[in-house]
Amino acid sequence: MDFDRYDHIRPIRWHDGMLSLLDQRKLPFTVQYLDCRSSHEVSQAIRDLVVRGAPAIGIAAAFGVVLAADGVDAATGAAAMQAMEPRIVELNAARPTAVNLMWAIARMRGVLATAGANWRYAIESEATAIEREDLAANRHMGELGANLISPGSGVLTHCNTGSLATAGFGTALGVIRAGVAMDRIQRVYAGETRPWLQGARLTVWELREDGIPATLIADAAGAHLMKTGVVQWLIVGADRICANGDTANKIGTYAHAISARHHGVKVMVVAPASTVDMATARGEDIHIEERDGAELLSMSGVRTVADGVSAFNPVFDVTPAGLIDALVTERGVIEHPDGEKMAAMFGPVSRA
Ligand code: MRU
Repeated sequence: MDFDRYDHIRPIRWHDGMLSLLDQRKLPFTVQYLDCRSSHEVSQAIRDLVVRGAPAIGIAAAFGVVLAADGVDAATGAAAMQAMEPRIVELNAARPTAVNLMWAIARMRGVLATAGANWRYAIESEATAIEREDLAANRHMGELGANLISPGSGVLTHCNTGSLATAGFGTALGVIRAGVAMDRIQRVYAGETRPWLQGARLTVWELREDGIPATLIADAAGAHLMKTGVVQWLIVGADRICANGDTANKIGTYAHAISARHHGVKVMVVAPASTVDMATARGEDIHIEERDGAELLSMSGVRTVADGVSAFNPVFDVTPAGLIDALVTERGVIEHPDGEKMAAMFGPVSRA
């Protein structure tokens, strides 16, 4: 299937020894890349949401490790890794929930541990491979997921899981791109995703850029759409999928999944195997990131809440495996995921 027509945006560019990141704080009205020349700048960009979305964070961190080698003089990868350690630790801690970050750093460490004198070349090749593999996985998942959807369907998505959140094409949004290209999806709805507005500022922008008509809804309108039969699938991404299939994703996903089950709407989670964390047994064990409550107290820099009011801002929630109808990764589709099916596909991997 040729999906090129619907795939133009690239948020991460590695060139001339620096990492250019499409600054997602400024979209949709300013399209501007921020150049990172040090691993510290990459860590900061991840923390500040210049780059965001689980797979994109992992890819950026991998190139961050390449930048962490700056000024390091070492004869082997292992010696270089020792010198780079504080910078690698800073990258690893940039955000806590998306496991793709730790996965990518672990992969880069693995290369450093065994590389000889050519360690610089080895880590740059590895970061490039992580990016290339992510794009290929997304294209494959797109087709696998779209095949589950009956022609004429309406779909609802949450947050931004598109090209902006990955090497390109996207995970849940990749399924939507493929579903539109394959004439299976007729209506696309995207929730705003309060408070950072990944849906309103990013998802509908990137779909419009790629010529896919999408309709924005308030997050609270999701249940109404399901009740009135407008959507047949909720399609979302993931930041961490546990050994029992429990899945962390953007805050609000859990509420949509409960509504979906109540109304007979199916739930599809789409994520590469790099989002699967077999070392975390269940959702309760996931560290849920909390961001500054200030994100809730104003809009576009204008305070909307009375002075003296505080806010609680957890930015992810966990959808229990029991609410998921299909988990799509590049390795295949698991219907109604549970511990046994997860272990059969991903093995008892440990990240210790
Ligand atoms: O806080 P964000 O914008 O990084 O959160 C992103 C999400 O929750 C996405 O749904 C998830 O990372 C999957 S992106 C393919």
